[in-house]
Amino acid sequence: MIISGAASQALAAALARELEEPLARAEYDRFPDGELLAAVPDLADSGGDSGKGGEDINTNTKTDRAIIVASTISSDAHLELLQLQDAAREAGVSEVVTVLPYMGYARQDKAFDAGHPISARAVARAISSTTDRVLTVTPHEEAVCEFFEPTATAIDAADRLAEPLPDDLTDPVFLSPDAGAIDLAETVRDAYGDGSGETDYFEKVRHSGTEVEITPSDVDVTGRDVVVADDIIATGSTMSEAVGVLQERGVGRVFVTCVHPLLASNAVTKLSQAGVEAIYGTDTIERQQSAVSVAPSIAAEL
Ligand code: R5P
Repeated sequence: MIISGAASQALAAALARELEEPLARAEYDRFPDGELLAAVPDLADSGGDSGKGGEDINTNTKTDRAIIVASTISSDAHLELLQLQDAAREAGVSEVVTVLPYMGYARQDKAFDAGHPISARAVARAISSTTDRVLTVTPHEEAVCEFFEPTATAIDAADRLAEPLPDDLTDPVFLSPDAGAIDLAETVRDAYGDGSGETDYFEKVRHSGTEVEITPSDVDVTGRDVVVADDIIATGSTMSEAVGVLQERGVGRVFVTCVHPLLASNAVTKLSQAGVEAIYGTDTIERQQSAVSVAPSIAAEL
């Protein structure tokens, strides 16, 4: 049985189709005091500890596993996930699998100063308490998987990013805005598949949450179409700075692509003003720009 968090309903449905497993109907309510209640009436709760176990919708047979698909894009989404996990455990399913298409707080993977938490570890511990297995898609650093107590697997979905790109890119260059994402740019180049395509990366220094400085690479982009690839576009500062540098150098068309199109605040406007022709992302975060689904990549791990 596939159970969706409120923010991941399209991806959960796509995953259910891929796996040919039933999709449960979760309900997301809020009490007058603001507290959330996410529940799954389809998990026929026979009393958990009484050992009767959950029953599979449609077939009325005992549910082997509950696969909870929930991108933790907000504090509410985190809470909701904990409730869905608990509901599944309470219903007595034999395995609770937690799929975090996008893991919120993953970029806070170290303490920034004395007295600071390691927030990624804190949320991983909470999520670990009621699950047998965790899958997450292209985390900022794969090492974040070590923060979970049960086995946690990072799924690389970068190859899917080539799918929505136009077929007629002119002498393309695949760039990453920093050294950390060069593997991702190379994967997109390889998946684009015409055998050509240079890759390179910029140097990035982040001055604040919204201010970054990009130093261009030596690659000649004059008149060439460029794809800038990154794991996530959050405020859009990194991408818009990178695209600005490209525009000063007489680039052809510019496309930006990322696994996680968080696109917070005015990110879309920033990118548009920078001259980006199109923004592509996956459905790890469900946005208008989610041009491609990671459901097949997740299904392959299940
Ligand atoms: C950081 O190293 C990541 O790979 C992204 O480049 C970064 O998180 C994007 O954030 P923003 O869109 O806010 O610049």
